[in-house]
Amino acid sequence: MDDRPFAFILLGNLSIEGDIRPIRGDRGAVMSKALIVYGSTTGSTEMLASHIADTMKAEGIDVRIANVTDMDVEDLLNYETILLGSSTWGEGELQDDFISFYDDMEGLSLKGKRAAAFGCGDSAYGHFCEAVDLLEKKLRACGAQIIAPGLKIDGDVTEAESKAEEWAKQIAGLVRA
Ligand SMILES: Cc1cc2nc3c(=O)[nH]c(=O)nc-3n(C[C@H](O)[C@H](O)[C@H](O)COP(=O)(O)O)c2cc1C
Repeated sequence: MDDRPFAFILLGNLSIEGDIRPIRGDRGAVMSKALIVYGSTTGSTEMLASHIADTMKAEGIDVRIANVTDMDVEDLLNYETILLGSSTWGEGELQDDFISFYDDMEGLSLKGKRAAAFGCGDSAYGHFCEAVDLLEKKLRACGAQIIAPGLKIDGDVTEAESKAEEWAKQIAGLVRA
């Protein structure tokens, strides 16, 4: 449907003309409700991100999932809810692909956005899932509201599917509200 008649009804007799179109975000997509961005080296966090996305979709949420390598930080501005996921490497560090994205988030305003973080790790290491804490801190520093505690998966993702599902359903409930 052309949105012009709607605009003219709203403006009444005011003679304002112009090209009024729906707000468009990254890559021409109409603004969506939720965005999941993940960084993953061996595929675990990618699998976790897909599982979260599938669960949210099944709950009726309009959700887009993307590898961090395909995103710019400005893309975050086009979504109402932002979920960032990274596995932990080194000694409590972000997954490699996420480092520049994380650095680029410095100074970005995410005020009014709802957000949460997730990721895979291994408690055999000393800094279990600390990348999730780093992402959560960064989201908070950007002004986003953290709506759920970080989801930290220890070891095999397939064994933690119900935990991920529960988390995703919790987020979906808040996104819908
Ligand atoms: C060299 C190395 C360092 C790691 N360091 C950590 C760590 O500090 N904390 C942690 O929780 N997991 C650590 N891990 C475990 C990974 O985060 C885990 O294997 C994860 O599932 C990888 O997820 P990805 O495939 O999404 O990258 C490390 C693994 C390796 C091989």
